[in-house]
Amino acid sequence: MSDASPVKVLALSGSLRKGSFNTLAIHAAKELAPPGMAIELYDLAPLPMYNDDVRVAGYPSVVQAFRSAIAASDAILFASPEYNYSVSGVLKNAIDWASRAPNMPFDGKTAAIIGASGGALGTARSQRDLRWIMSGLNVYVVNLPHVYIGGAAQKFDAAGKLTDQPTRDFVKQLLENLRDLTVKLRAR
Ligand SMILES: Cc1cc2nc3c(=O)[nH]c(=O)nc-3n(C[C@H](O)[C@H](O)[C@H](O)COP(=O)(O)O)c2cc1C
Repeated sequence: MSDASPVKVLALSGSLRKGSFNTLAIHAAKELAPPGMAIELYDLAPLPMYNDDVRVAGYPSVVQAFRSAIAASDAILFASPEYNYSVSGVLKNAIDWASRAPNMPFDGKTAAIIGASGGALGTARSQRDLRWIMSGLNVYVVNLPHVYIGGAAQKFDAAGKLTDQPTRDFVKQLLENLRDLTVKLRAR
């Protein structure tokens, strides 16, 4: 990656639900991405449940493709529902597949976290867990702003567009900070 090349962001939604607010938040991020950033949504649905016997026998091609997509990106954008106070099983399963040797693809990447929920806290509890998980994989997570999209049903319109202006401003600022952190680390 050269200094001038756009920051390539792989976006992972922790919800497989059609109409997922978290996937919609990623679509909003694509719309709000600053200059010098390209965001691509990666579909986690094809990933099997993690099984270490399978890993030892050789990563399935869908898993290898996922690992390669992470490796080819500069940064990760996470948008996950909070399930029972933590990240969704869909996202944790994907992270687990990507976390094993060889060539651990998350190592040294940057990341930003957003999250939407029906409740008032907007995934605050699960984002804390995700930051902790990422620390063990040597991922540099942007500190601020925290983007908690609580009461999600009121923040998107019927067409799925993120309409809440303060939330749009937070997402935009977070993406700018992700771009700047990634470029800063790239220069080292
Ligand atoms: C299994 C399950 C557990 C949930 N646990 C929480 C929770 O701990 N905190 C919360 O705010 N919402 C919780 N919810 C509600 C989700 O915030 C809500 O379903 C949200 O829309 C899911 O995100 P999505 O729209 O991207 O699918 C839970 C939903 C499910 C299905």
